[in-house]
Amino acid sequence: MALTSQQAIELENKYGAHNYHPLPVVLAKGEGVHVWDVEGKKYYDFLSAYSAVNQGHCHPKIVNAMMEQAKTLSLTSRAFHNDTLGVYEKFAAEYFGFDKTLPMNTGAEAVETALKVCRRWAYQVKGIDEDKAEIVVCKDNFHGRTTTIISFSNDPVARKNFGPFTNGFIKIEYNNLQALEDTLANNKNIAGFLVEPIQGEAGVYVPDEGYLAAAKAICEKYNVLFIADEVQTGIARTGKLLAVDHENVKPDILVLGKAISGGAYPISAVLADDNIMNVITPGSHGSTFGGNPIAAVVAVAALEVVQDEKLAENAQILGELFRSEISKFIETCDLVKLVRGKGLLNAIVINDTEDSDTAWNICLKLRDNGLLAKPTHGNIIRFAPPLVMTKEQLLDCVSIITKTLREYKK
Ligand SMILES: Cc1ncc(COP(=O)(O)O)c(C=O)c1O
Repeated sequence: MALTSQQAIELENKYGAHNYHPLPVVLAKGEGVHVWDVEGKKYYDFLSAYSAVNQGHCHPKIVNAMMEQAKTLSLTSRAFHNDTLGVYEKFAAEYFGFDKTLPMNTGAEAVETALKVCRRWAYQVKGIDEDKAEIVVCKDNFHGRTTTIISFSNDPVARKNFGPFTNGFIKIEYNNLQALEDTLANNKNIAGFLVEPIQGEAGVYVPDEGYLAAAKAICEKYNVLFIADEVQTGIARTGKLLAVDHENVKPDILVLGKAISGGAYPISAVLADDNIMNVITPGSHGSTFGGNPIAAVVAVAALEVVQDEKLAENAQILGELFRSEISKFIETCDLVKLVRGKGLLNAIVINDTEDSDTAWNICLKLRDNGLLAKPTHGNIIRFAPPLVMTKEQLLDCVSIITKTLREYKK
């Protein structure tokens, strides 16, 4: 018998670890830009599983690729070759303009992989003394949940009682070129600079125009690898294939996850050219599921959808429309301070204290009105719908959002 929403929530609460605080809605089906709850109510998905479902829910091309491969060969491990992996690695390398692809499963694993590649490069190519390499990261970063990654987070909730932490990271302010230059100029042990082109989890902070290009130039000056974490911003989300493309930057190491599968399967990847990637040798890194046959065909299909359906162009056009419509509305409404973002990665900042529950309560009202979004860090609501949205659907969503905000009473 089908569960009610209440029953499903109770099961999760009783038998699942409490590592999330989901909005109370229980989803049972998705198609394109829509999801349905177990009682059959239809919603616009305005989060896209944190930008994983850029291609829309259950895209038929991606689902078919997955089903066909699942019936044929799902996993060999890397103990043996298979007939899908090389095809995918070549496809991804050419698609993003790198010599090589290193396949992993989750975003955090891909970040870990990039850090390992960077450190090895530091010792074997740059010539830093063993165990002395340092990697520069930004304040308020979000790169995942492993022990090493939270070692350089400054979010107390993510870190509390998970120590001891990993050494070798230096934190500087985001969007501060002087801080980067000063740090690199004064320390010859720096191997890499890990950065999100837009800080998504922190609240969709878009750096100043020119920041990424200038940061890359500083890295080049000091022979430091520029590592772009595009797990959330990549694959057309911000109106270009990669967010770094807005400034014509080619990272030394590119980190991808989420939408590389269209949300159908956990897939991530690290890309780099041979002079960097060749530091990875047999036995030095791996994962049983990394680059498995289902992942290989799913990623190719998902990346083809991005191109075939011109999702970057659509994100660019709809993003501008969204911000201009919401900006017009903000002039008439004290509840929202501002809207910011790029392409279809946007956020509004609620005019209330950081610790208020206003953003959460607005998300509950949005849910009642048929649109699902979630606060990120206090009083900020992120808006990131699937990129297959039409202009009519986007305007419908704008009217749901503005109506909800207009009617909202504290
Ligand atoms: C920029 C960035 N890097 C890494 C991750 C971690 O990805 P995953 O949750 O797949 O481990 C995320 C997840 O939100 C992210 O936004």
